[in-house]
Amino acid sequence: MIVSVRLDAHSYEIVVEPGALGTVGARLRGLGLGSRVALVSAPAILRLFGKRVIESLEAAGFAVVCVEVPDGEAAKTLAVAEQGWTAILEAQLDRTSTVLALGGGAIGDLAGFVAATYMRGVNFVQIPTTVLAQVDASIGGKTAVNHPRAKNLIGAFHQPRLVLIDPVTLSTLPDREFRSGLAEIVKHGIVLDGAYLADVEASVGPLTAREPATLERIIGGSCRLKASVVERDERDTELRHVLNYGHTIGHALEAATGYARWTHGEAVALGIVAEARLAERLGLASPVTVERQERVLAAVGLPTGSDGIDVETVLAIIASDKKARDGRVPFVQAPEIGAFKLVYDVPRDDIRAVVRSLAPSGPIPGQRSGAGQIRFDNAKRRSV
Ligand SMILES: NC(=O)c1ccc[n+]([C@@H]2O[C@H](COP(=O)([O-])OP(=O)(O)OC[C@H]3O[C@@H](n4cnc5c(N)ncnc54)[C@H](O)[C@@H]3O)[C@@H](O)[C@H]2O)c1
Ligand SMILES: [Zn+2]
Repeated sequence: MIVSVRLDAHSYEIVVEPGALGTVGARLRGLGLGSRVALVSAPAILRLFGKRVIESLEAAGFAVVCVEVPDGEAAKTLAVAEQGWTAILEAQLDRTSTVLALGGGAIGDLAGFVAATYMRGVNFVQIPTTVLAQVDASIGGKTAVNHPRAKNLIGAFHQPRLVLIDPVTLSTLPDREFRSGLAEIVKHGIVLDGAYLADVEASVGPLTAREPATLERIIGGSCRLKASVVERDERDTELRHVLNYGHTIGHALEAATGYARWTHGEAVALGIVAEARLAERLGLASPVTVERQERVLAAVGLPTGSDGIDVETVLAIIASDKKARDGRVPFVQAPEIGAFKLVYDVPRDDIRAVVRSLAPSGPIPGQRSGAGQIRFDNAKRRSV
């Protein structure tokens, strides 16, 4: 499947195809890119896929330099970016050269930042290898490294020339990482396309079994949905907020637990449940719409409830959300499946109620601690 991303000055294609890894050389040649390529990746990813990518590039006449960076968030620092600039300078990359990211979203963000800044911008190509990177991080042109005090603070918009997605690469992804990425897929369906969500619901078996044809269709569909938003809002102003569905509460849950308790996707799943219930509470959505969202999240193996949430900390983090304008935090709401609206000025008590409702044991203040609950959380909960 090929998804075209139509942007004024720099349109590009997202190719989703089992076996796409082996076509990278021919495709770069087809784009007329210069002969030098810097392959930015982590050692573990290179061991899995490096040989195939390098062979394909060399067979098409490219000179490849491998830039090994740390795995995951550890890659997203200015120090690693500087090592990247040095490596590609020594390999004599010029304005016609290409920085190629191979790996998860963290590698993509770092490599994209290096590509955006080296010589004020060189060609950038992405080969994302996690679900999250394939349906989310690789699309939209946002690149960044982290500041010690804030994630993704230092960055630039830099659109890729090509995104190459080989669903077969997902066969080696740990189960938890795989399921986490499905949260973004479900999110896209809920707020953007009811027929797509129905396809996900009907495909849970082959999807979670990572059957390549199903992955191609579902991942390609998700790319199409995110691309349609990016096309209408390239610089991330108003419309892209829609992609934050489940994320206002989801991010706060992650931050409240030091990014250690849940993966991003798990926190987003909980955030979707809470924000769906918020819509019902505000009279915007029916219970049927809310239950459908919970059912599909549970079906793909994501959490829909959790004990031990420090509700007041979560509320305080939401109030300081960086997307707040004049102190008003925008919530994306899904009045029905396949539709969304932005809601400002949601009463704090309503947010509190839906976050508390995530506890399956019932969020009764002062209730006796259940098994596995941390005393700290329980004490906090009593004060709610
Ligand atoms: N630019 C954007 O628009 C955007 C959007 C969403 C998220 N992000 C960023 O993406 C990052 C998260 O991305 P992620 O979830 O891909 O995490 P990640 O990049 O940290 O990768 C997760 C883990 O999966 C491993 N891995 C990757 N591919 C694999 C494969 N095929 N087989 C086995 N293991 C594999 C990696 O080595 C790593 O340990 C965050 O830094 C986030 O800020 C960016
Ligand atoms: Zn997300």
